Amino acid sequence: MWYKEAIGYQVYPKSFNDTTGSGIGDLRGIIEKLDYLVYLGVDLLWLGPIYKSPMDDNGYDVSDFYDIDPLYGSLDDFKDLMKEAKKRGIRITMDLVLNHTSDEHPWFIESRKSKDNPYRDYYIWQKPRFVDGVEVEPTNWASFFGGSCWEKDGDEYYMKIFSKKMPDLNWECEAMREDLYKMVEFWCDLGVDGFRVDAVSHLEKAPFEDSDFGGSETYKPDWKKFSNLPKMYTYLEELKRRLPENMFTVGELGGGPSIEDVLRSVAYDNKRLDMIFTFDHNWANDGFDSFKDEFINVVDVKKLKNDFGKFQVGLYEKSWHALYWLNHDHPRVMSQYGNVDYHKESGKLLATILYFMWGTPFLYNGEEIGMTNGDFEEITDFRDVATVKNYENLLKEHPKNHVMTFLKTTSRDNARTPMQWTSGDNAGFTTGTPWIKVNENHTWLNVEDQMKDPNSILQYYKKLFEVRKEYKETILYGEFEFLEDETFSYIRTGDTKILVINNLSSDEKVFKHEFTVKKILLSNYNVDKSNEYTLRPYESIVLEVE
Ligand code: GLC
Repeated sequence: MWYKEAIGYQVYPKSFNDTTGSGIGDLRGIIEKLDYLVYLGVDLLWLGPIYKSPMDDNGYDVSDFYDIDPLYGSLDDFKDLMKEAKKRGIRITMDLVLNHTSDEHPWFIESRKSKDNPYRDYYIWQKPRFVDGVEVEPTNWASFFGGSCWEKDGDEYYMKIFSKKMPDLNWECEAMREDLYKMVEFWCDLGVDGFRVDAVSHLEKAPFEDSDFGGSETYKPDWKKFSNLPKMYTYLEELKRRLPENMFTVGELGGGPSIEDVLRSVAYDNKRLDMIFTFDHNWANDGFDSFKDEFINVVDVKKLKNDFGKFQVGLYEKSWHALYWLNHDHPRVMSQYGNVDYHKESGKLLATILYFMWGTPFLYNGEEIGMTNGDFEEITDFRDVATVKNYENLLKEHPKNHVMTFLKTTSRDNARTPMQWTSGDNAGFTTGTPWIKVNENHTWLNVEDQMKDPNSILQYYKKLFEVRKEYKETILYGEFEFLEDETFSYIRTGDTKILVINNLSSDEKVFKHEFTVKKILLSNYNVDKSNEYTLRPYESIVLEVE
């Protein structure tokens, strides 16, 4: 199980590195940066979707599973990427989108032609309902991207839990599943090392009956209607049987799975996936509730501890787990739980908090330098289909300035601004016009400067990964226990004992302990060995103790 000791890194292809001047990142651009990833300590790459796509949702809307989108390059470029990555000991994990396709995929083009088309059954079609003589959608369920999860086409509706250009596949249809497995085989044969299985929670849908979810919305955000339902596990089992023995899989398990749900997917004794991404920790501040003039970032440390602790303890020795702060669907963690006024300190603290836990780290490009939310001003600065759709809906309920505060704080575009390589034009990302605004702060926040600065967040990550290797018996395999106080501190016990002390706030906090300090493993301020610290803002200290 090599993946337990791997350091993962997610590349968002569109925003990583452009070598053609198109303003959009490409595969050659990723190849160009492989040495940088080696320098950082990464040996597992998660590549966002690069299949042919109309890019309604930046590639999660696939129109041809067997080809690379020309924006990113060609299949030959992809083969080169794999070759170059292998040379450097980096494994490649592809995004695998199984819940839906693009409406421009040949299957859907066929499916919508007529009710007796052989591909009709590849998607989910339902007749309208009539309430008091008025036609309504088949159910009152909402879509994740706003509005109904049904779209009218001819005299029926097709299901789309994301955008209307992303019709949901019908997993009840065996022929459809077989076609998907064939496609998966194609990529396995090309030599990929694994898959990040997208939106896997949603493969099964509940019977099509209205939700009695409360609230005044016309369309009910009742995600349980298509999340973590029993047949999903059967489908995952089938998928696993079709994969080569050593193929690595990490699933995205949304919809608030319980520990039992998680174990049904990843438990060692009944494994459908190798590990999963959970979302609990993504909402531990007031950001998602910020319909106000300004976002006051109040982090709920207790909730955050609980969100991580439940998996660190509940899954220990029963399964493996993925560690991540954010991906392309969330705001930047520096803006969410860190503090730009304490950029260096909080950037290093965030690294310490998460990556001294057990599990496989997945950094999101830019996290290693503490990139922040985008500096978006107007709605026209945003590109994300969910953000733009949500804007229209939110304006019906909230004043415009409040909606803008909300979007600036929470939009997925915050994590999608171009990677900041240098302080130069467009942050060294492109020589053309970037597809989305480059953050102005690249003049002081970029890879090049942090490579030179021995005290940077980037250098701290490098050191941290070295410590993870050196103390792997404890950090990767040891027990985890939180200290019951208002800091974010915990103890790891394996063949050594490690005390991880974190002050996730800008207030000073006194921290005492009774261990004997053997060695200071890492810190983000100058410190001496001690049994009592007055922790400064965002101070982080890692001690080997006994
Ligand atoms: C996943 C992806 C997200 C995408 C959605 C639909 O949640 O991470 O970016 O919009 O699935 O494919």
